[in-house]
Amino acid sequence: MTELLTQVVSLVTHGDIMVATVDNPPVNALSHSVRAGLRDAISALESSDAVRALILVCDGKTFFAGADIREFGKPMREPLLGEVIARLDACTKPIVAAIHGTALGGGLEVALACSYRVAVASARFGLPEVKLGILPGAGGSLRLPRLIGVETALTMISEGKHIGAAEAAHNGLVDAIVESDLTDGALGFARRIIDAGGGIRRASELPIPSFDPALFGAARASLRKRFRGYVAPQKAVDLVEMAVAIPFAEASEREYETCRELLGSPQSKALRHLFAAEREALKIDGLSADAAPRDIRKVAVVGPGTMGRGIAACYLDAGLSVVLIGRSDESLGKAKGAIARIYESALKRGSLSAEEMESRLSRLTLTQFYDDLADVDLAVEAVTEQHDVKAEVFRKLDAALRDDAIIVTNTSFLDIEELASASRRPWNVAGMHFFNPAHVMKLVENVRASHSAPDVLATITALARRLGKTPVMVGRSEGFVANRMLSKRTREAQFLLEEGASPAQIDRVLSGFGFPIGPFALADLAGMDIMAAARAARRPRMSDREKSCNIVDRLVAAGRLGQKTGAGYYRYDEKRMASPDPGTDEILEAHRRDRGIAPREISDDEILERCLYAMINEAAKILEEGAAARPGDIDVIWTSGFGFPPYLGGPMFHADQIGIRTIKEALDRYSALVGREYFQPAPLIERLAAERKGFYG
Ligand code: 3HC
Repeated sequence: MTELLTQVVSLVTHGDIMVATVDNPPVNALSHSVRAGLRDAISALESSDAVRALILVCDGKTFFAGADIREFGKPMREPLLGEVIARLDACTKPIVAAIHGTALGGGLEVALACSYRVAVASARFGLPEVKLGILPGAGGSLRLPRLIGVETALTMISEGKHIGAAEAAHNGLVDAIVESDLTDGALGFARRIIDAGGGIRRASELPIPSFDPALFGAARASLRKRFRGYVAPQKAVDLVEMAVAIPFAEASEREYETCRELLGSPQSKALRHLFAAEREALKIDGLSADAAPRDIRKVAVVGPGTMGRGIAACYLDAGLSVVLIGRSDESLGKAKGAIARIYESALKRGSLSAEEMESRLSRLTLTQFYDDLADVDLAVEAVTEQHDVKAEVFRKLDAALRDDAIIVTNTSFLDIEELASASRRPWNVAGMHFFNPAHVMKLVENVRASHSAPDVLATITALARRLGKTPVMVGRSEGFVANRMLSKRTREAQFLLEEGASPAQIDRVLSGFGFPIGPFALADLAGMDIMAAARAARRPRMSDREKSCNIVDRLVAAGRLGQKTGAGYYRYDEKRMASPDPGTDEILEAHRRDRGIAPREISDDEILERCLYAMINEAAKILEEGAAARPGDIDVIWTSGFGFPPYLGGPMFHADQIGIRTIKEALDRYSALVGREYFQPAPLIERLAAERKGFYG
């Protein structure tokens, strides 16, 4: 007979073994009713003389995915997770965690406090708290090192790294892999334990395995480089170092305190905001639940250039078949070679097997003929960024594709509305704007045109997810969201340069703020010819000052194309190490002379404010126009696409922390200094400042 302990936890007794089943969709987070149900299940086990073991199993797609993030910041109702875990640990009869899906955070901590863990082969395990700016708070950093060794546990805790069931079984985290039905397998396992007279096992009582104390220093140094600016990874090392040095009970209290402190930290608030914003971004405005994604199996990619190759690789990686279409055998051959090289380097790194590489390449076909596209479900247009060229490709695709096939354009700046309306199938047209290198960059700006059918929007969202990308739906707007905001930062960086700042100063300020690389080092990496071409494309829409601020063109004229020619804004040695270059100073001085600009000392604050606030002001206009549905979408775009430090939550979240009034006052100041056409506060900023509100209310 099934007994309901709480709304989400039920109990069934099979002879002398009880099974507690949790069903708390969507991810079985350890909300109050789950914690109360677990406590009651433990009490039922302890109070029954007939029952000798308990199995904990979850319905739905996963084992507990952790503490309930929605409860964070609110008063917690008892029993707290720590109490439930202490009860599991203290129990005098064996408890078996039966795991499928992902056992994460508090979910893994529950499993660690059980005597035994069995799992299906596809299960994954992790303590990802660090990604939310916090650390395990319910014994994870104490039990995991005891079970699997200090070094592996430290990596999992400080990087939030997941491991699979095979590795977990190898390192002792999992006691058995279940091939059959999970509950049946767990019952069989528990029966064997009982019959063999096996009793309880407590990870809390295991000795700390031996380890090299130098590993903490090495981890700190490596994490400092890889997670620059993040607080929690460094704290994770302190926590584990402490946890293995002092008695369990004392360490347990300190672990809880550390977690609580971090929960109130600005970084954790920012990272938790992004966690929610990323999921919110998948909810597309005006899309009803019946807009089901279409089935996409075969894709055409038109244009074998840099973007086309990267995009083709993304689809191959996700298991789809790709027809790459180009204008010559030579360009197609080069593209195939480039895609093969991506896989060869993955093979060398050990992140791809030879069979998988072969399978991916075998799904790639090359053609020059649109007639070969009759059976594709979706075509990606990724040709040169020129309207006439793209319109011609659209015409050919229209003629060659099935009527129900979707066309997506990868345009960065062109008007998708115009391209769509010239097509026979405007409802089957949308944008999927990838970023270079497409097979690496997470962000995809999905673009809705006014006629895009709801199921087309649902399809491109699901498809981008299938490619492992972070999709954000945006509307019609020149440069969409990411590039449109970036162009304002680029403009200010150039203006600051001609007013007297150096590339090194501006790069130092912006990378000090948290961007992974400064704009000038990035330009040198991308190539000055690329920057000059982007500038030429924007020229018709530039102000007179922007046109005259032609430092990029001067560098190109001097043959300084960036890293590839050994000099751009910086000079590069054979190891591609950058150093400031007197040659650049001369070009800048000549430019200022020709423009009649007397250079001045510019403060770091001015550099940061002008670069950042120009972006935020543009974002406010984007929001007002509806080109982004909500501020969270802009935060996701900038943190996943353009390196805005996630621990600051994205430009909109960060703007609210600064205060919109402060930003408005600075915009007014820079309007007077630089020009109203550049810094006039957006009406939304004016309104929010007057109402003393933020983008998030
Ligand atoms: N609490 C509350 N809700 C959660 C949640 C959690 N821990 N994890 C996920 N959700 C919600 C999501 O917000 C989303 O809600 P929505 O449908 O309303 O948008 C829904 O569950 C589905 O999530 P995903 O879209 O992410 O589903 P996926 O299938 O892609 O991924 C997952 C599932 C791998 C479990 C992923 O959601 C995930 O990584 N979750 C976070 C896990 C985590 O960080 N756990 C640690 C929590 S902190 C902790 O445990 C502290 C402890 O040490 C004391």
